[in-house]
Amino acid sequence: MTSISNNYADYFGSWALIAGASEGLGEAFAREIAKKGINIILVARRKELLEKLCSEISQKYQVKTKAIQLDLASADVLIKIKTETDNLEIGLLVYNAASCPIGLFFHFDLQQQYKVIDINVKGPMIFTHHFGQLMRNRGKGGIILLSSLAGLQGYPYNTHYSATRGYTMNLAEALWYEMRKYGVHVMACVAGATNTPNYVFSKQKSRSHKSKTNGSI
Ligand SMILES: NC(=O)c1ccc[n+]([C@@H]2O[C@H](COP(=O)([O-])OP(=O)(O)OC[C@H]3O[C@@H](n4cnc5c(N)ncnc54)[C@H](OP(=O)(O)O)[C@@H]3O)[C@@H](O)[C@H]2O)c1
Repeated sequence: MTSISNNYADYFGSWALIAGASEGLGEAFAREIAKKGINIILVARRKELLEKLCSEISQKYQVKTKAIQLDLASADVLIKIKTETDNLEIGLLVYNAASCPIGLFFHFDLQQQYKVIDINVKGPMIFTHHFGQLMRNRGKGGIILLSSLAGLQGYPYNTHYSATRGYTMNLAEALWYEMRKYGVHVMACVAGATNTPNYVFSKQKSRSHKSKTNGSI
């Protein structure tokens, strides 16, 4: 068996796909994986950021890059992602994006709650199901699903987000067991507070909301 320390691209496969990669933790994953010599596919909505990052990564780490502009909440997400990746060996998948609305559960209508499920639950399930099967057939690969400390227990005012973070954690944990006999590594990244653009924005939003409502969210 190839040693992981020798050649990451041989060990996992030649491409990594990072879903939610235009900034923050997704961008950091992309840079770290590219450093190991794996080609990078970046997925997010903001095309300009993706293209800028692709060109920076390919120059700095001498790997191939590809940007896919896509809303992970869209209904045809699998068709789009298959069209863009079917001829590439995706050996690493990082599902990073999440939606984290802050406020009382009942302040959000069902359409808003469905969107959280599309990005935080359906997205990781679809990507893991699709790419995980291909990895299983190849007998190698790796999947990282972003979760959160907020997934370890109910988190008031982040109620739905926190429930969905529990989903990705349990999905990854159970799949770790199922997939290891096929040579596919699966893990959840249970992140704590990390200084990303989205974290800073959420904190400011939460503070301004509290000041308007005399301390309650
Ligand atoms: N930062 C923290 O303190 C913290 C703590 C615990 C866990 N986490 C977890 O870590 C992960 C990353 O967090 P983050 O702070 O870096 O910010 P984030 O807002 O969760 O992720 C940002 C990335 O996701 C993309 N994205 C968001 N919605 C998308 C959509 N509908 N379609 C396509 N791409 C989308 C954004 O790009 P576009 O806007 O360009 O689409 C951006 O590249 C999340 O899963 C989060 O739950 C973060």
